[in-house]
Amino acid sequence: MNYRLLKPICFILFLSLNTNLMSQQDYDQKIEALLKQMTLEEKAGQMNQYNGFYDVTGPAPEGGNAALKYEHLKKGWVGSMLNVRGVEEVRKLQKLVVEESRLGIPMLFGFDVIHGLKTQSPIPLAEAASWDMEAIEKSASVAANEASAVGLNWTFAPMVDISRDARWGRVMEGGGEDPFLGAKVGVARVKGFQGKDLSLNSTIAATAKHFAAYGFAEAGKEYNTVDIGTNTLYNMVFPPFKAAVEANVQSVMNGFNILNGVPVTADAVLQRDFLKGKWGFQGFVISDWSSIAEIAPHGFAKDLKHAGEIAANAGSDMDMESKAYVTHLAASVREGKVAESYVDDAVRRILKVKFELGLFDDPYRYCNEDREKERLFHKDHMEAVLDMAKKSIVLLKNDTGLLPLKKDQKGIVVIGDLADDKNSPLGSWRLASDNNSAVSVLEGINSYTKDYSFVQGPKYFDDNASFLQHVSINTDDTAGMEKAVEAAKNASVVVLVAGEHGFMSGEARSRTNIDLPGLQHQLIKAIHEVNKNIVLVLMNGRPLALPWEAEHIPTILETWQLGSQSGLAIAQTLFGDNNPSGKLPMTFPRSVGQVPIYYNQYRTGRAKQEPNVFWSHYADEKNSPQFPFGHGLSYTQFKYKDLKITTTGQKETTVSVTLSNTGKIKGQEVVQLYLSDPVASVVRPIKELKAFEKVALEAGASKTIRFVLTEKELGFYTNDYEWTVEPGTFQIMVGGSSAQGLTASFELE
Ligand code: GLC
Repeated sequence: MNYRLLKPICFILFLSLNTNLMSQQDYDQKIEALLKQMTLEEKAGQMNQYNGFYDVTGPAPEGGNAALKYEHLKKGWVGSMLNVRGVEEVRKLQKLVVEESRLGIPMLFGFDVIHGLKTQSPIPLAEAASWDMEAIEKSASVAANEASAVGLNWTFAPMVDISRDARWGRVMEGGGEDPFLGAKVGVARVKGFQGKDLSLNSTIAATAKHFAAYGFAEAGKEYNTVDIGTNTLYNMVFPPFKAAVEANVQSVMNGFNILNGVPVTADAVLQRDFLKGKWGFQGFVISDWSSIAEIAPHGFAKDLKHAGEIAANAGSDMDMESKAYVTHLAASVREGKVAESYVDDAVRRILKVKFELGLFDDPYRYCNEDREKERLFHKDHMEAVLDMAKKSIVLLKNDTGLLPLKKDQKGIVVIGDLADDKNSPLGSWRLASDNNSAVSVLEGINSYTKDYSFVQGPKYFDDNASFLQHVSINTDDTAGMEKAVEAAKNASVVVLVAGEHGFMSGEARSRTNIDLPGLQHQLIKAIHEVNKNIVLVLMNGRPLALPWEAEHIPTILETWQLGSQSGLAIAQTLFGDNNPSGKLPMTFPRSVGQVPIYYNQYRTGRAKQEPNVFWSHYADEKNSPQFPFGHGLSYTQFKYKDLKITTTGQKETTVSVTLSNTGKIKGQEVVQLYLSDPVASVVRPIKELKAFEKVALEAGASKTIRFVLTEKELGFYTNDYEWTVEPGTFQIMVGGSSAQGLTASFELE
């Protein structure tokens, strides 16, 4: 028995005896007691996060920084690891730290569980299209259930970056262009991951990321400069983060970008004044991968040590893989470059999350081999992600009623490289998923009928595309196109599956061209020549520009990348067992030249003034989008009537509207309320989403929907970050998209 360790082990045992009964106040006492024992190096160690070794279950990695990391683990200089996979690996690393380091402080194990671990739910942008917070929360709880079963206790999700730019590959990872919807989606995901009790071994800590404004990268180019005004920052970017903090998110991740000249990882105004100050965030800030080190190449620090000092002073509590804190922070504190009080604050925040997760109670609580065996791909999870997928599908158009197909429909021809693809439907950010584990469209259709034929058409994407490389796209080999056109000639209906490979969106996948990649557009036109009855099934991770298809193809179904059960959800929709109910969380442009395009634009001083040209427009493109934010059709029809406003009291306004299902089948409609404040002390958008409700109605049924507007909905942040509600006229619009609805106005005294 190594008696050197007796004291700390007794200390940990003492901690663990009481953890169950610990209140917040108890935590604080234990944290202070622990903090007093820690050396500066051990404190810096809690602020240090390393990437996993992947094969740690073998002997310690020889040489290189893996061996150094191993040494640091034994010294207690690693507070957390990421990308460690599986109970066996987690247990081995946790055991090393708990039993060999002086204080035995357990580690956090983080991972990008973005939309599932093994069971993949739809990509987050697809989930946002459901406007169904209950389903989204359930989907995140499934992800937490599987992540926790493999030893993980922390996910780097939800990404809550608002973005209006389809050129940016990471739009697939967020909640779209609108702060109100984005905040609701972010909160639903935080609740799903964290549950009601973080100390359960089936819930995990969540991370709101990337703080802040990463989604406004100039020209949609990944990692590019962000330069936006306070009005946009306060009223568009901040709300989803503030909502996540109010939902008790345990960590916030900063980012790679600069914001108005300051790297966000180095920005004390963001991290200390707003996040930890005004908003009272109690968790900790994790840097993005090497974003502390990157403060130097941004031109804001002279070297790694200086970058670490700036980041620590700015409120970046944990360093992901820069090695800045573990290498230099103790010296920086001793030199007076960083106040130890800042280090103590960071360590307190990190230890508090470890207490909340129950890791001091049982460092191996997430290392349960039985759970690992029985939770992954569990049928309950598959059912939940199927439900989520069905609710995420958006019917963009169905002009001639080609959908739903009859279940005994003859002569169906399925065409497209993505139709039998079992990988792309999993989307990007699926690090731990199994390749080819999605149900393909063809497999889904097979569950309905064998009476169809399939012709792949040209092969667009290379099969071995990876998360780390760009997808290579066939742009000249038309092999297979003729056969596809031939097959389409006599089809009763052509189901044409087109879109993007799963790794064409996601991190580092910015594109200047958001048309259908490769020869898909040519294929669609060639088939349209011989058969007009085309159902275009889109499978993509971002809004695409498809003006010709939008004009000529009678039915278009937006299916995004729907995860493990993709093909089933699509087939159930094609054959009418699922009536699509999704609404676009992001505007679809007519052309990339319109981007960034979004519904909640400002008026400008020059609305339409034809016949002269001096108004805000393009000479070569319309101003309007191809498909607007909030747009989505159903197999039934909905009608709105009797919009009424009753202003009850100074700051509360009740709005009611009657919704009817005038079609022949039941369906769900997302009733959306948009508000306009046409005269204010800060220019306000032409309209803003301020309330919505997803309503299910049987055919022929009607329901009166009520919304109550309070200061929370009527106000806005001034450029001094003062929340203000100004008297005057307010206009509202209630309908099934941001483009049209019933309108009314009211006066606020
Ligand atoms: C990535 C991403 C971030 C992710 C982290 C860890 O570069 O920007 O969202 O959580 O690194 O993988």
